[in-house]
Amino acid sequence: MENTKYVHGYSEREALRLNDQANTLDDIIHNDSIFPKDSLVLEAGCGVGAQTKIIATKNPDSNFVSIDLSEDSIREARRMIESLGITNVKLKQADIYKLPFEDETFDSVIICFVLEHLHNPIQALKELKRVLRKGGTMIAIEGDHGSTFFYPDSEQANMAINCQIQLQKQNGGNSNIGRQLYPMLKSTGLSEISVSPRMVYVDSSKPQLVEGFIKNTFTAMIEGISEEAVQRGIIDKATFEKGIKDLYRTAESDGVFCYTFFKGFGVKK
Ligand SMILES: C[S@@+](CC[C@H](N)C(=O)[O-])C[C@H]1O[C@@H](n2cnc3c(N)ncnc32)[C@H](O)[C@@H]1O
Repeated sequence: MENTKYVHGYSEREALRLNDQANTLDDIIHNDSIFPKDSLVLEAGCGVGAQTKIIATKNPDSNFVSIDLSEDSIREARRMIESLGITNVKLKQADIYKLPFEDETFDSVIICFVLEHLHNPIQALKELKRVLRKGGTMIAIEGDHGSTFFYPDSEQANMAINCQIQLQKQNGGNSNIGRQLYPMLKSTGLSEISVSPRMVYVDSSKPQLVEGFIKNTFTAMIEGISEEAVQRGIIDKATFEKGIKDLYRTAESDGVFCYTFFKGFGVKK
């Protein structure tokens, strides 16, 4: 089985961060995650269900099968979905590389913030394409840490972000994968591919994004790798801490923060 080490970790704190991320980015990344009535949709790598609850609620006339490798995440996602009274989602533990479904089972497939963690994202996309019916749509959403810029600029903040990029690379992933969505969807053999960049621009006139994105999504993610980055000798503790302080500094009244997500669509012919 594929090495499944996952840089962001499975902690309770990471579950909170993923939920903050999903709630904050709902409009930016899911405004067009709309499926035709009665669609059967596979959500691959649903984690604790942070995106699941958004797409399932937006598409009450579709049914979702949401899978993840982690039993713990599936259990947590099930608890959350039940507590919200959502009834159009089935959750199942499964590996994206070896899906327990027949060819052409699903009308659509959606995968969000997962390819960046995989050793072989194209193999995963091909397996997802296998279970997609002809004429069905694949949606892939990824970030790209290389798209981050902010004011005030800070060498240490950029170094701290680079630690995340390095760690993810060491674990076989790629946190700059957003820019590769188009070529990856093409290599998968999909047609009618289109990729749209979704920039999150934050200044203090958008207090919800200051809290939800700069602090609780992005900086929380970088802060979460502090110990591992120092232990692996990628950075010293003082530089990392200054970098985190400078990232929080961008959330002050004169600060600005930009990050771009990429959303790709492709059709199986
Ligand atoms: C960053 S989380 C994203 C979760 C969710 N899509 C979201 O946006 O909140 C990545 C997820 O991919 C899952 N994952 C990693 N490798 C997998 C594989 N081979 N098969 C299924 N899920 C996998 C992890 O367990 C984790 O839950």
